[in-house]
Amino acid sequence: MIGLNIGDKPVLRAYSIASPNWHEEFEFYSIKVEDGPLTSKLQQLKEGDNIIFRNKPVGTLVNDALLKGKRLFLFSTGTGIAPFTSIIRDPETYEKFNEVILFQTCRYINELEFGKHTIDAIFKDELLSEFVTDRLRFIPTTTREPSQYFGRVTDWLRSKKFVEEIGSDLNPLEDRAMICGSAAMLNEFKEICIERGMEEGSNSTPGHFVIEKAFVD
Ligand code: A2P
Repeated sequence: MIGLNIGDKPVLRAYSIASPNWHEEFEFYSIKVEDGPLTSKLQQLKEGDNIIFRNKPVGTLVNDALLKGKRLFLFSTGTGIAPFTSIIRDPETYEKFNEVILFQTCRYINELEFGKHTIDAIFKDELLSEFVTDRLRFIPTTTREPSQYFGRVTDWLRSKKFVEEIGSDLNPLEDRAMICGSAAMLNEFKEICIERGMEEGSNSTPGHFVIEKAFVD
């Protein structure tokens, strides 16, 4: 939870930590709502300003909640990419999985900028590039503007498109998935994973997939 004192009272929202666990700084990724109670103020922060930061992080999108596997699929829409920009920069992810495939679906191309920038930086980073070469793939898709990859990934999974792009369908024997987005998106992905024979995991009982709602202001 992060936030600000606005008037006399604290206004806090749940955010995913977008930076990796070894990073010296915390990074967050947010939409900016013009008259949003928090983001209208957050976007005006200047260096040196204080924020409120609850010191007990919670969440299910962690490697420990998944069984070991070969491929890790990270499915996100919009700001749902934030927890995954942390996971794809964690060397432990590459100890546990051979291949990491990150999807982000947005309406328009300009919303994909943060993901593209993060991926570029990973491939240019001296240490990280060693882990990710040939093992990290980013598939940004748009739904309301033509681009290299078009459409909702849920639709890809329900048609031949997913297999055409990835080579094979989701397979509970070797594939694991983390899903982060809106409630409707989570429900659809969860249904698809269950149809494929995958079971939801938690920190106490690791499984084949985990989900987390991307909270917005
Ligand atoms: P679409 O443009 O077809 O609605 P939103 O801003 O509404 O959360 O949407 C962000 C992105 O997530 C959009 O590209 C949207 O596609 C897509 N999306 C919305 N709902 C779902 C869903 N149930 N399953 C998969 N993708 C979704």
